[in-house]
Amino acid sequence: MYAIMVFGYPKFQNYDFLIAKNQIIEKAFSINFTCLSKRQVFKISYMQKKQVAITAVGGYVPDYVLSNQILETMIDTNDEWITTRTGVKERRILKGEGLGSSDMGVETVKQILQKRNIDPLEIDCLICTTVTPDMVFPATANIIAYKTGLKNAFGFDLGAACSGFLFGLTTAASLIESGRYKKVIVVGVDKMSAIVDYSDRTTCILFGDAAGAVLLEENTEGHGILDSLLRVDGVGCQHLHMKAGGSVKPASIETVMAKEHFVYQEGQSVFKYAVKGMADISYELMQKNNLTADDIAWLVPHQANLRIIDATANRMGLPAEKVMINIQKYGNTTSATIPLCLWEWEKQLKKGDNLILAAFGGGFTWGATWVKWAYNTPA
Ligand SMILES: CC(C)(COP(=O)(O)OP(=O)(O)OC[C@H]1O[C@@H](n2cnc3c(N)ncnc32)[C@H](O)[C@@H]1OP(=O)(O)O)[C@@H](O)C(=O)NCCC(=O)NCCS
Repeated sequence: MYAIMVFGYPKFQNYDFLIAKNQIIEKAFSINFTCLSKRQVFKISYMQKKQVAITAVGGYVPDYVLSNQILETMIDTNDEWITTRTGVKERRILKGEGLGSSDMGVETVKQILQKRNIDPLEIDCLICTTVTPDMVFPATANIIAYKTGLKNAFGFDLGAACSGFLFGLTTAASLIESGRYKKVIVVGVDKMSAIVDYSDRTTCILFGDAAGAVLLEENTEGHGILDSLLRVDGVGCQHLHMKAGGSVKPASIETVMAKEHFVYQEGQSVFKYAVKGMADISYELMQKNNLTADDIAWLVPHQANLRIIDATANRMGLPAEKVMINIQKYGNTTSATIPLCLWEWEKQLKKGDNLILAAFGGGFTWGATWVKWAYNTPA
């Protein structure tokens, strides 16, 4: 009976093996449950956990392209500086009166429903991760659900800046693991152009607007979201925040005049934390799960700065061809970067591929998630 303790779960994830394990576990419980220590019981319940996988992805970028060349005409900067310091060549901006984050999010949800031919009424929950909600309230998740006809869903916004999507993914997976919900959508969306000061050359070069989304469902083949390490540290507040518009400093004529409704960032400090935070946690996740660089098909990093991405890949021992990079086209789209990568690379992903999703953002927030990809996409 003790043999079941040496399986080293979750390293073995194929279907036959899981079935075999479950049979042994049932036997173990019925024959001699009382001889199991607390640690052994914990391991058994972990082994019996539902597996939850990404089963569809959607993405959206606005049409308008704000290139480095255009920025050169707006602020004291140049393409060479931006490219070498950040990796960004251009970013997308949502133009149009009355358009907000929800409008981009809606496009991604519609794509998912259409791709999978799912009735909107089947969706149980929608989590919208964003720092640029349409309004302070109601939640942007509400607005997206309303505009896409998710009449049976509940939903909420989750704010964790650039790590928002990863936090949302783990939260959504837990909802399905609980057994109470079957289909949950996570939308990562940000209209950063709404909170960026286009006269501040240290921030406006970095950010863009976009949305990405995934559908999560139970998986019986051992694929899906296998492990996550997520962290927050309030020390980050001083280095990256928006000074006004919250309950501490509500909007006033003075706050508007002082440009306090824009992103405030101490770039160098954030950079140092981000390099260490994203690289360390990705490596820690690999160590925890005995994953080598050879086991990993793709690193899906948050796209804040090409130098941060390179440092993370180096720490993990991954060659450049295993790293998804689209920062040159879209810049930092905050919550949207990771699902946007999944959307762009979807056709190249193969069932069984090991992906490490890694992020670092304001707060500070950071994390890494191990995903075993659950499906092949027809070419
Ligand atoms: C913002 C960032 C690109 C700045 O790069 P950097 O190498 O740290 O540059 P510095 O801030 O040290 O500035 C170096 C010089 O370039 C200048 N500079 C800043 N922005 C510039 C721009 N757009 N164009 C030209 N020069 C610029 C600075 O004024 C400074 O000049 P000085 O030496 O004469 O004072 C970088 O710090 C960064 O990416 N930080 C992390 C961002 C991040 O990850 N944020 C979100 C977390 S999700």
